[in-house]
Amino acid sequence: MTTERPTAHIIGTGSMVPERILSNRDLESIVDTSDEWIRRRTGIVERRISSTARNESTSAMAIESSLRAMDMAGVGASDLDMIVVGTVTQDRMFPSAACSIQDALSAKNAAAFDISAGCCGFLYALSTVDNAIRCGTAKTALVVGVERLSSVINWTDRGTCVLLADGGGAVVVTSKNNGGGILSTHIQSDGSLWELLYSAKGNDSLPEILSDMDQKPFHLRMEGNRLFKRAIEFLTSISKKAMKNNSLSSDDISIVIPHQANIRIIQGMSKYLKIPMEKIFVNLDRYGNTSSGTIPIALDEANRQGLIKKGDLVLMTAFGAGLTWASSIVQWSI
Ligand code: UT7
Repeated sequence: MTTERPTAHIIGTGSMVPERILSNRDLESIVDTSDEWIRRRTGIVERRISSTARNESTSAMAIESSLRAMDMAGVGASDLDMIVVGTVTQDRMFPSAACSIQDALSAKNAAAFDISAGCCGFLYALSTVDNAIRCGTAKTALVVGVERLSSVINWTDRGTCVLLADGGGAVVVTSKNNGGGILSTHIQSDGSLWELLYSAKGNDSLPEILSDMDQKPFHLRMEGNRLFKRAIEFLTSISKKAMKNNSLSSDDISIVIPHQANIRIIQGMSKYLKIPMEKIFVNLDRYGNTSSGTIPIALDEANRQGLIKKGDLVLMTAFGAGLTWASSIVQWSI
């Protein structure tokens, strides 16, 4: 009999992005922008935008990501006792996206709920599941981060519509008694900064080339420049907190999976954390900012590309609407 306390281990990853690619050049026909400006100021080259005709809803992306993660983990629906989804663009106000997944998978033993934490949704969800597993209230859980931001974008606002996109990912987390796994999670917020990124009543005018989309009755508003400065500060401080908590230095980190908002934010974080860009996984050139989707999509890509080996120390970190910010260090178990 082991006396070691249970820790939570990621044992499967999966992700899904919509089929349609919207390039910077396509955006030139929608707003007053240029491929050159978007690449230089953000690092984004193209992004994925969901289609109603192809049923690329938030739930559909979440379900497909979950199935891929469960397949890798060798876990069946009846093994799941918790499904937690980080999203702010669930298909309906209620019930939750998590309940749609629970239904689609017939995960009869699972409690299911969403978490609204802006772009930190995935890490807030991971933190919730980590704590549930440590407490023994869950054994095996699905953690999902998914977003259909195209449905809340103001397509006349060049300051936001060139950045945001759709997609999602999932991980299966399970309890083990042999140490390692999720070493810690850290979540923070400051609601006084809500006006830097929030939703407000919008209209449903859509550009011609995206006319087959569902649009929600509210739009996202952002003060990009002020948020930019906070982003580097918060990503750096919460990453340092995670390393300190685990008595680790920057050199100990094998790979960083950061929120994919802007290459200049990632470069700033790299400089202040003294972690070289070669150790930081970047895919925002292909997917843009998918909010809660960025980290699980990037984690799944890095994992499937063989960039993360068993025992590696993975640092994940994000910031977003709230404002919220978060980090986690995981000793890789796959
Ligand atoms: O997940 C969290 C979500 N949000 C973020 O992470 C966003 C963080 N912020 C950013 O990434 C950057 O602040 C932006 C990419 C949003 C903007 O870059 P910036 O270097 O901070 O530009 P700026 O807002 O200071 O604007 C500089 C200029 C302005 O023109 P003027 O006033 O100097 O003539 C803007 O109107 O760039 C203009 N501009 C654009 N020009 C062409 C803003 N957006 C565009 C655009 N195309 N899409």
